[in-house]
Amino acid sequence: MSDPFDPFDAARSRDAWTTLRELRDAGPLATVAGALRYVTRYAEARGVLRDTKTFSNASGLKAPGVDIPVEDRLLGELDPPRHTAVRRVMVTAMTPKVVHATEPFIASTAARLLDALPHDRFDLVASYTGVLPNRVTMHLLGFDPADSDQLARWAKELMESTFPALNRTDRGIGFAAAFPDFAGYIDARIAERTAQLAAGDDRDDVLARLIRLEVDDDPLPPQQLRALVRNLVTGGLTTTTQLLGNLIFELLVRPELEAALRADRALLATAIEESLRLTPPVLFMARGCVRDTQIGGCPVRAGERVVVGAASANRDERVFAHADDFHVDRNNADQHLTFGYGTHVCPGATLARAVARIGVGAVLDRFASGELRLEPGFVFEQVPTYFEHGPRRLPVERT
Ligand code: HEM
Repeated sequence: MSDPFDPFDAARSRDAWTTLRELRDAGPLATVAGALRYVTRYAEARGVLRDTKTFSNASGLKAPGVDIPVEDRLLGELDPPRHTAVRRVMVTAMTPKVVHATEPFIASTAARLLDALPHDRFDLVASYTGVLPNRVTMHLLGFDPADSDQLARWAKELMESTFPALNRTDRGIGFAAAFPDFAGYIDARIAERTAQLAAGDDRDDVLARLIRLEVDDDPLPPQQLRALVRNLVTGGLTTTTQLLGNLIFELLVRPELEAALRADRALLATAIEESLRLTPPVLFMARGCVRDTQIGGCPVRAGERVVVGAASANRDERVFAHADDFHVDRNNADQHLTFGYGTHVCPGATLARAVARIGVGAVLDRFASGELRLEPGFVFEQVPTYFEHGPRRLPVERT
């Protein structure tokens, strides 16, 4: 018999569509490697995400047994009521109005990156999809654009390290010990911006909003601020890179999709949702069960770890007809669980969608139909992060 499916093993967690279908067909809840309970179907997945009293976020995406101190936790690692208060701050900093005001910057940055491409061949991940989201985050936070590449390197190093699963690297335990330079950079920016605000500088960037806002009449403690800034830098960076890469890959291998989008640009919005549904940049969400319950009629005990498989639920035939197929005009694609659901639903979704719409639109505008093609012999290689799905490279040549 083959080994059980392991969502925490990068070699097994991606391209597991056949395994996930088998698990889904067998029942709404599967027991997979490490005694994890994997929720396979859409209705049960939404049910778990809705029920924050039974399913806790405290362990986040960490491997079983790894505990993170509260002050070091990302928003997605907090439970109500602390989560409710901190999330309000984060959402206020990232409103649709803030995103809308950023759109001209996204468009001009996309154009500049495309202008800088070499003429004949280039890797779209290294030169475009991996760069654009980072530039946007730096702009939103009001950080110096000259620091962009350094910050992107730190964020990528973190995401590809043992840290997301274990909360430690060889350098130490916890963010500040494992990534001292990255943590020091964020702390310095917070101190600098706090001093500027005190001196009457009223520029309105996301960092200023986070510093100014209060939870229960108190400003956020410095360590929590640092965690939220890290959340914005790492949460929106590689995920949006994967979205851009996954959709551009589809365009490169499906001329009929490219033709449809060129004929009717309004279809780009549904193409983005369909890409998110079929190839979710974030494959699953992790919860800890804190009281005995059942999922789809299967008993689950307090203390068990529950993994909500967005990658599986998004292909549940009970909700999505012909669920494995890319239908650019699918009318319910946006019901996918790729941004989560309920209390923790992604506050960066509006921004990610805007970056995808403008970033992919700019590629369609810049290159003629069929002008870009994947290097001969190209093999899709996944990014090494175990909970993400996206191309590590997209080497293309201009025809
Ligand atoms: C395609 C891009 C993105 C995907 C697929 C994605 C996915 C997700 C998912 C699945 C969750 C829920 C986690 C859970 O329920 O445990 C989440 C939460 C979150 N995301 Fe995103 N995200 C994306 C982009 C962004 C961006 C651009 C930002 C910010 C700039 C961001 C910031 C956050 C934060 C702060 C949370 C925690 C929310 C909470 O726990 O209340 N994300 N994201």
